[in-house]
Amino acid sequence: MAEPPYPMLLPLLLLLLHFPFLTSAVPLGSVLYASGSDQSWSSPNSTFAVSFLPSSSPNTFLAAVYFAGTVPIWSAGSVDSQGSLRLSSSGSLQLINGSNNTVWDSGTDALGVVSAAIEDSGSLVLLNNRNKTVWSSFDHPTDTIVQSQNFSAGKILRSGSYSFQLERRGNLTLTWNNSTVYWSQGLNSSFSSNLSSPSLALQTNGVVLMFDSTLTGGAETIYSDDYGEGSNTFRFLKLDDDGNLRIYSSASRNTGPVSPHWSAVADQCLVYGYCGNFGICSYNDTKPICLCPSRNFDPVDVNDRRKGCKRKVELSNCSSNAAMLDLDHTRLITDPNDPNSQSFFAGSSPCRGNCLVSGVCLASVSMSDGSGNCWQKQPGSFITGYQSSSVPSTSYVKVCGPVLLNEPLVGSKGDGNNSKVHLWIVAVAVLAGFLVWLW
Ligand SMILES: *[C@@H]1O[C@H](CO)[C@@H](O)[C@H](O)[C@H]1NC(C)=O
Ligand SMILES: *[C@@H]1O[C@H](CO)[C@@H](O)[C@H](O)[C@H]1NC(C)=O
Ligand SMILES: *[C@@H]1O[C@H](CO)[C@@H](O)[C@H](O)[C@H]1NC(C)=O
Ligand SMILES: *[C@@H]1O[C@H](CO)[C@@H](O)[C@H](O)[C@H]1NC(C)=O
Ligand SMILES: *[C@@H]1O[C@H](CO)[C@@H](O)[C@H](O)[C@H]1NC(C)=O
Ligand SMILES: *[C@@H]1O[C@H](CO)[C@@H](O)[C@H](O)[C@H]1NC(C)=O
Ligand SMILES: *[C@@H]1O[C@H](CO)[C@@H](O)[C@H](O)[C@H]1NC(C)=O
Ligand SMILES: *[C@@H]1O[C@H](CO)[C@@H](O)[C@H](O)[C@H]1NC(C)=O
Ligand SMILES: *[C@@H]1O[C@H](CO)[C@@H](O)[C@H](O)[C@H]1NC(C)=O
Ligand SMILES: *[C@@H]1O[C@H](CO)[C@@H](O)[C@H](O)[C@H]1NC(C)=O
Ligand SMILES: *[C@@H]1O[C@H](CO)[C@@H](O)[C@H](O)[C@H]1NC(C)=O
Ligand SMILES: *[C@@H]1O[C@H](CO)[C@@H](O)[C@H](O)[C@H]1NC(C)=O
Repeated sequence: MAEPPYPMLLPLLLLLLHFPFLTSAVPLGSVLYASGSDQSWSSPNSTFAVSFLPSSSPNTFLAAVYFAGTVPIWSAGSVDSQGSLRLSSSGSLQLINGSNNTVWDSGTDALGVVSAAIEDSGSLVLLNNRNKTVWSSFDHPTDTIVQSQNFSAGKILRSGSYSFQLERRGNLTLTWNNSTVYWSQGLNSSFSSNLSSPSLALQTNGVVLMFDSTLTGGAETIYSDDYGEGSNTFRFLKLDDDGNLRIYSSASRNTGPVSPHWSAVADQCLVYGYCGNFGICSYNDTKPICLCPSRNFDPVDVNDRRKGCKRKVELSNCSSNAAMLDLDHTRLITDPNDPNSQSFFAGSSPCRGNCLVSGVCLASVSMSDGSGNCWQKQPGSFITGYQSSSVPSTSYVKVCGPVLLNEPLVGSKGDGNNSKVHLWIVAVAVLAGFLVWLW
């Protein structure tokens, strides 16, 4: 790979003579190539660098600011091996793919950008000729906030279908598909009513503080389990692609590995949509796994069980032999704001029966949690469930008969809890070959 040209090299050298701390300035016209994994733009003390590394999907490369050479903390996106990241002569940072399409653009043409730099804080900045920051990655976060980075209301972290936000009233929320809030943590009400423009930051000591003009000194909201430990620890808050928000720490300021020290949703199966549409989340030991409700369904992608399941026979092709699949110890997760789910007072038997005869009911849930509630899911509703011996609810899914139970569930009906667990383990062990573990 040929070295990229540096047309601004002479002015830069002159600048460097004046300002030796700008040693890491990246001049206009600089290019990093996706296939040039040895190329990078580094922060002055080398803790952070912009480069390309292979991404999780094959033959694609992620252009990112990496901590310790491997941990992405901000990214422009992924491209094929012919792609590149360029600081154009007009002052925009651009990610370009092998077909010469601009995949991402900082949109800073005409703002007088003369150089880029990676600061020791981890921020990628675009600077004008008065050394003023006109754009920074800290102001445009992707899925990660590093320690001391200011994350204010209105900003958003995204990962797949999931997003994390700080709402103006001070609640931290995790949302699926821009609509279903599956985790929320607020300040207590005596504060939240008065907030004007809150922001939060993960402090170097591992405590997340919320700031606002009405909160003197900030309010402590989350404690990493290693808070206060390690003077040399580097920490960041990341929205992972499994929909969980975690605080990670690296014991050393400049090197990995990193390990999680807090997660927002303690029970991964309660991350909405984790197993996709018609996917049922369960645990093998401590690992969450995704199953289909029954053999009336096939996985959408056998290599990625999180993509959900699809019916072998559509209900519309099933004029008279619709049947209810009974799922003990299973709760189809309901979003009260979903216009396509409705709640009724009904015991389990009518909960099941009404759904079977209703033209618009796809599935129902008898909560069995003391509320007396039965939820009905109607067309348009996303169906995702949680199965565990500790779940009291029973769910019913309308399928085109006959019902073809999953073998691990055969015989579990009507047994006591202990034998249920025992049968489950035996059945799962027999069928281990069917199951694809996520990790
Ligand atoms: C580049 O991006 C364009 C537009 O998104 C897309 O149509 C094209 O297939 C991409 N080319 C490569 C090589 O990925
Ligand atoms: C890529 O596109 C830019 C304009 O978008 C154009 O100036 C340049 O010549 C193109 N390069 C190649 C190799 O096609
Ligand atoms: C790099 O700079 C950051 C921020 O000033 C500092 O916390 C870190 O300890 C530095 N690392 C080294 C190796 O000097
Ligand atoms: C340029 O900006 C950086 C931070 O963005 C700062 O550390 C440095 O002191 C500035 N240099 C001048 C000459 O203003
Ligand atoms: C965070 O940024 C917002 C807007 O960008 C600003 O109003 C607020 O004062 C900042 N908070 C802190 C603690 O720096
Ligand atoms: C996601 O949300 C959009 C509207 O924001 C909606 O049309 C779509 O059906 C939702 N997807 C699912 C799977 O529910
Ligand atoms: C959520 O909304 C944003 C902005 O409107 C959009 O870019 C994104 O694709 C949406 N995400 C989902 C999962 O629908
Ligand atoms: C804010 O979070 C609290 C939990 O800390 C929750 O009880 C409350 O319902 C949330 N408010 C909204 C509007 O989501
Ligand atoms: C609300 O939180 C503040 C500190 O964060 C605390 O002093 C106050 O007692 C709390 N109020 C209630 C009602 O919990
Ligand atoms: C919130 O505002 C009300 C009235 O505006 C005021 O009485 C109260 O002291 C404020 N609370 C805080 C925590 O600032
Ligand atoms: C119904 O069955 C026919 C033939 O068996 C098939 O072609 C069609 O795609 C099916 N429709 C649905 C919605 O499953
Ligand atoms: C759970 O997963 C492990 C591999 O991670 C596998 O060896 C084991 O058989 C599984 N347990 C059951 C009960 O199937």
